[in-house]
Amino acid sequence: MAKLERLDKVLSNMGYGSRKDVKSHIKNGFVKINGKTVKDNTIKLDPYNDKIHFKDQLVNYREFIYLMMNKPQGLVSSTDDPLTKTVIDLLPREYLIYEPFPAGRLDKDTEGLLLITNDGQLAHQLLSPKKGVNKMYYVEVDGYVDESYKSNFREGIVLDDGYKTLPAELEIIKADMISKVNLTIQEGKYHQVKRMFESISMKVVFLKRISMGPLELDNSLEPGEFRELTEEEINLLNNC
Ligand code: URA
Repeated sequence: MAKLERLDKVLSNMGYGSRKDVKSHIKNGFVKINGKTVKDNTIKLDPYNDKIHFKDQLVNYREFIYLMMNKPQGLVSSTDDPLTKTVIDLLPREYLIYEPFPAGRLDKDTEGLLLITNDGQLAHQLLSPKKGVNKMYYVEVDGYVDESYKSNFREGIVLDDGYKTLPAELEIIKADMISKVNLTIQEGKYHQVKRMFESISMKVVFLKRISMGPLELDNSLEPGEFRELTEEEINLLNNC
């Protein structure tokens, strides 16, 4: 059954002003529900199915937003930071009313796939260690990483604090002085990829996340760009 919400609450949550402002907009006749002007701010409606117009503009109500960002280097993946610009600072105002946050962190100097949402349950599912959702990173490493390392990563790498990582899958793109690899891990320990390579005495010089479970970074997004997830992508994430 549809969940009914008070008109003034819906509009206020959507960023149309405080409850008091919204009440006065409604009294002034700026708001229509299903084509009819309403003057009662306490009226209840189904915000998903009833059509609300504010000053003749359709109010696009939704509870959750899901954005895929290609995180650029130099920004932190949190909602606010006293010193550094955050990924949320890249979003236009229209998204901020939903109070989005990054689902999982990437280091300041890491690029790539970041899911930004206000769906706490989905974020929790994706990040829960119990779920072991795969995360694939493209990594450039100062050192010669060839096929012989695959077994080390598959067995798990002992990090500087003694923790042995879960099996990780290494795919060699190019073994060279600066090697290019894809690494898939199931966890999200602090600086995990960098520390895994440090444990074999190599330094990560470039790091980019390219997928998270079934969600793949859209290659058309330049660093700093984002787009909304498609319905299909949202369903894939909900079912992973
Ligand atoms: N591993 C790292 O070392 N850094 C990241 O940003 C993500 C994974």
